[in-house]
Amino acid sequence: MKKLAAMLLTFVGTVIFAACGGARTDSNEQPKVRTDQPVSARQEQAAETPESPENGTLVIYFSRTGNTGKIAGYLTEIAGADSFAIEAAVPYTDDDIRYQDDNCRANREQNDKSVRPAIADPVPSLDRYDTVFLGYPIWWGEEPRIIDTFLESYDLSGKTVIPFCTSGSSGIGTSEKNISELVTVGNLLKGKRFPADAAKSDVKEWYDTLPLKERNEDMKLKISVGGTELTASLAGTAAAGELAEKLKSGPVTVTLNEYGGFEKVGKLPWALTKTDESVVTEAGDIMLYQGNQMTIFYNSNSWSYTKLGHIDSMSGKELEKLFGEGNITVTLSY
Ligand SMILES: Cc1cc2nc3c(=O)[nH]c(=O)nc-3n(C[C@H](O)[C@H](O)[C@H](O)COP(=O)(O)O)c2cc1C
Repeated sequence: MKKLAAMLLTFVGTVIFAACGGARTDSNEQPKVRTDQPVSARQEQAAETPESPENGTLVIYFSRTGNTGKIAGYLTEIAGADSFAIEAAVPYTDDDIRYQDDNCRANREQNDKSVRPAIADPVPSLDRYDTVFLGYPIWWGEEPRIIDTFLESYDLSGKTVIPFCTSGSSGIGTSEKNISELVTVGNLLKGKRFPADAAKSDVKEWYDTLPLKERNEDMKLKISVGGTELTASLAGTAAAGELAEKLKSGPVTVTLNEYGGFEKVGKLPWALTKTDESVVTEAGDIMLYQGNQMTIFYNSNSWSYTKLGHIDSMSGKELEKLFGEGNITVTLSY
């Protein structure tokens, strides 16, 4: 009950804080990232794989009381990623984060957007990562200032960045906006707020919906049509990721009906996330139609679809011949 009351106070405080625009208080400003320290044991996982290709995933996070760290741990396992814990050069003591005290360090820092607390041991390089999950607790409705130190210390202009956070009750909203306004990010995906007690399955459920292009492009969908095996590259949509995930449980056979002289279309066993766009399809395109149907094009059509993938190395004529005139049965596997 006491905790609930405190959290409520925090939430109300956040709103009041935001409404007041934040008062300038004593700054705890410190020099930017230090580079004169040895790489700590916790960072070796990220630092010791220089030969890994430049398409890796990094989970980087700051967590003072362990909640965000727990989510980061789940995410690291699920994504098969490297991980890196951001630690403050001057660690945050319990008194520093006693937010009921207006003058505690965390409150003073959050109250001054220019403060950049130094990071103890910065990650040596982000070169080999093109996907960065960035985790933090919500402090007064925002990301802690040490996250701003991280953001301003690296070039994220070519990276996909996915924020995630934990909080007592607040959403992730303002922190995402802050990130986008503070630095240039190649592709800033919509972030996710978790409660402190989120389970690994909650994290996995979210992860599976992410349109991670690199992940999807590596996957080859297999399509068997009357004894001919085709392969298809998956699109970078959430639906394509979901389809691949579903097929990991086993192949699925779908009956596709002839339609319009340009496509074969049939119902999938499940609905997938619809992110329809008006497109002109090409022969070989595999599209999600109305959220639960799959169309394979052997010719072109203009309509609103969500892209699932594209069949490799087959012309429209070859596909038309293979599919024949009537309905077909295809088996999808991954
Ligand atoms: C200084 C400070 C400010 C906080 N502000 C908020 C807030 O605005 N909204 C909220 O829901 N929780 C707030 N919290 C609670 C934390 O977001 C929450 O406990 C979080 O899970 C802590 O993550 P960590 O264990 O990774 O440090 C605040 C905590 C601190 C220390």
